[in-house]
Amino acid sequence: MLKKPYVIINCAMTADGKIAFPDGKQLRISCEEDIKRMYELRNRCDAVLVGVNTVLYDDPKLTIKKKYVRNPKQPLRIVLDSKCRTPKNAQVLSKAAKTLIVTQKGNEKTFAKKHVEVIGCKTDEDGLINLEAILDILYRKKGIRKLLVEGGGTVIWNFLKKRMVDEVYTYIGPFIVGGKNTPTMAEGSGINSVDELIHLRIVDVKPLGPGVLIHYKPIVD
Ligand SMILES: NC(=O)c1ccc[n+]([C@@H]2O[C@H](COP(=O)([O-])OP(=O)(O)OC[C@H]3O[C@@H](n4cnc5c(N)ncnc54)[C@H](OP(=O)(O)O)[C@@H]3O)[C@@H](O)[C@H]2O)c1
Repeated sequence: MLKKPYVIINCAMTADGKIAFPDGKQLRISCEEDIKRMYELRNRCDAVLVGVNTVLYDDPKLTIKKKYVRNPKQPLRIVLDSKCRTPKNAQVLSKAAKTLIVTQKGNEKTFAKKHVEVIGCKTDEDGLINLEAILDILYRKKGIRKLLVEGGGTVIWNFLKKRMVDEVYTYIGPFIVGGKNTPTMAEGSGINSVDELIHLRIVDVKPLGPGVLIHYKPIVD
């Protein structure tokens, strides 16, 4: 039987559901209080995962700043990157923590850094990293029990679509970005009928700085 870590999604969106500028460039949505909460959440997880587009657009470090968490335990950084497009100078490859690049079998490259590992994994029907397979590897071979998925929209969509998610945190910043093609929290192909809806139960809603934090758990049928 396949195993999987406990999966938490964390995302910051605007009041109109956008997660970046219309051209995909990074937009800071979180307030100071939310940034602190996000670092504390990272500190409670064994690994933090993003898709390669987030690396290309935002160049995140995916570490925990000591300013927010004393004696942080840096989680393993994971990039889903089937064509191995992560740039050699990306901040996610910095020495501050270990990094795992998950690529399609046969596309493995070397980054010549001891703290960076590249593994090949089978792909799914869309040519993306097969989530069931990689979650099983993370659980059994890497000891990952709690995984934080931070985006972007394509990755979050696939985790939700494949029913791999245990909790969702959404911070909503009180401003509008607009734009028909501006990235949103869940991209991919979407669904076309009511019976495919991904239902969530609201666990908690609380004001946080100028915005609001919503905590959901998916309803499992
Ligand atoms: N506000 C926030 O909280 C937040 C957080 C993170 C990112 N963002 C924003 O999100 C945007 C990027 O999102 P995005 O949707 O374009 O891309 P993404 O989700 O970051 O990355 C998607 C890419 O990851 C690779 N991938 C491999 N296996 C996958 C799988 N099983 N499922 C999904 N993706 C897989 C694919 O590229 P290959 O085919 O090359 O492997 C895919 O195109 C940026 O604008 C960024 O600023 C916002």
